[in-house]
Amino acid sequence: MADPQEVLAQRVRSALAAAFGDEFAETDPVIRPSQFADYQANAALALAKRLGRKPRDVASAIEERLDVDDVCREVEISGPGFINLTLRDDWIAAQTQAVLGDPRLGVATQQRQNIPIDYSAPNVAKEMHVGHLRTTVVGDALARILGFLGHNVIRQNHIGDWGTPFGMLIEHLLDCGEHSAEADLLKTDPNAFYQAAKAKFDASEEFATRARSRVVLIQSGDDETLRLWRELVDLSKIYFNKVYSTLDVTLTDDDLAGESTYNDMLPEICAALERQGIAEVSEGALCVFLDGYTGREGKPVPLIIRKSDGGYGYATSDLATVKYRVEELKADRILYVVGAPQNLHFRMVWDTARKAGWVPDEVETTHVQIGNVLGEDHKILRTRSGKSIRLMELLDEAVERATRVVAENRPDLDEETRARIAREVGIGAVKYADLSVSHDSEYVFDFDRMLALNGNTGPYLQYAQARIRSIFRKGGVTPEEAAAGTITVTQPAERDLALALLGFAPTVQQVGETLEPHRLCAYLFDLAQSFTTFYDQCPVLKAENAELRASRLALTAATLRTLVQGLDVLGVRAPEQM
Ligand code: ARG
Repeated sequence: MADPQEVLAQRVRSALAAAFGDEFAETDPVIRPSQFADYQANAALALAKRLGRKPRDVASAIEERLDVDDVCREVEISGPGFINLTLRDDWIAAQTQAVLGDPRLGVATQQRQNIPIDYSAPNVAKEMHVGHLRTTVVGDALARILGFLGHNVIRQNHIGDWGTPFGMLIEHLLDCGEHSAEADLLKTDPNAFYQAAKAKFDASEEFATRARSRVVLIQSGDDETLRLWRELVDLSKIYFNKVYSTLDVTLTDDDLAGESTYNDMLPEICAALERQGIAEVSEGALCVFLDGYTGREGKPVPLIIRKSDGGYGYATSDLATVKYRVEELKADRILYVVGAPQNLHFRMVWDTARKAGWVPDEVETTHVQIGNVLGEDHKILRTRSGKSIRLMELLDEAVERATRVVAENRPDLDEETRARIAREVGIGAVKYADLSVSHDSEYVFDFDRMLALNGNTGPYLQYAQARIRSIFRKGGVTPEEAAAGTITVTQPAERDLALALLGFAPTVQQVGETLEPHRLCAYLFDLAQSFTTFYDQCPVLKAENAELRASRLALTAATLRTLVQGLDVLGVRAPEQM
């Protein structure tokens, strides 16, 4: 089973070596999909210059040595020196058969790497907002995809569980009572709890003073204060976990590695950077000044790692995250799936850590930048009153809207089944909307569009696979039985579908490298469309003869498995019926 593009590349490279010498064996054969054939090899154009020969002559020299009889039905030179390559139908059929016979659908496992992925990372006693939703959804998809590719993915949920706001939060918790209805808000509407504490802090000098003294108690490790802090964190965890289970993401309590986790490392981080002469005291604060980071008027931008009051901040704990992930988690590659505005922060943190020798060159650190989610007015999504939108409300509304759609389309199903489908479709729609646009671009949050049954949406793909399942039900065949059929490719629509199926493995591989799940979404959308054309043009259950029926059922089974597997690694459910 093979990626046609890769197979053709190998063959063309061999021809290059045979025609021009071994030093050309690694030359990029420039294989591209073509309008006139399946692919074209464009190597001749670039090589002509290097060889001082006409591109068309170079192309014929390659063609003469090209050994592709088993793969291609036609090889033809066109234009200034393109080599058009048309695959053999029986080769396509055999490759598709092999994919269908492979539980991994042709996706090879890669050399296993340790890959910590930092994602989600909401803040304790504050509402998770749509920005956190997007890093949660994209991060989880990347975790699933890299896991599927064979890597040891280590999920790191860097929740905001430390810092000065905890002074006021603890005092507010004490005022309300730990078992009060207000405290319960932390589990359902943490933003309300936070806002109430903040309002008191702003209005009452007495409260503000208490809050500040409480900060000192937190930092000195006072037992009772730390117990209350833990209580706040525990109540927030209940809230996070509710969102995670509603969203169907893979994060659990075991993945929590919040800011506080690194407290013990911070003094030594600062001391080490000072010893190495990387950090210096400026206006009372310990700062790192790096080359290349200047602000307005060429003023150097500092990375502050210890404030003048002696407290540590966000940058210091992130120096600890990267050090810990390299040294303790033995990371080969580290991903931070975090909002795009934090890019400068991460670049400065990593440059500092590399300068200190904590991150070897071969360990790649990547900021998977997450773009903003916008409202209809193209500003950051907010409620009418200007407050940030509550994530749980948004998810509830998605499910509610999906409930209406399912009730309309499937009045025949019982209520429980309908409710389950509505949950899968509503949540799937929201997640897919986050995944299907490139992660660093902004997009407008639009329920109507994300829930639409046509276009590149979650519900469209969910429906596509549910419809295929209904074909099997109608035909009285299981997909497993159908997968035993022998695939032959005769009609153009069969050929296109088979070729599309061969694209799954290379696409997943590519997403693992580029960290761009939207490429998998685009692939699945294309595949679903190829299937629709196939199903329109090639009768499956009513095929002319038994062999044709078996072949088409096998192609149908391969499509179903690919769609389901693709949705699964994206973290989108595939309902049995819709
Ligand atoms: N809690 C932060 C926020 O809400 C995100 C943390 C991201 N991860 C990190 N290692 N800094 O913006």
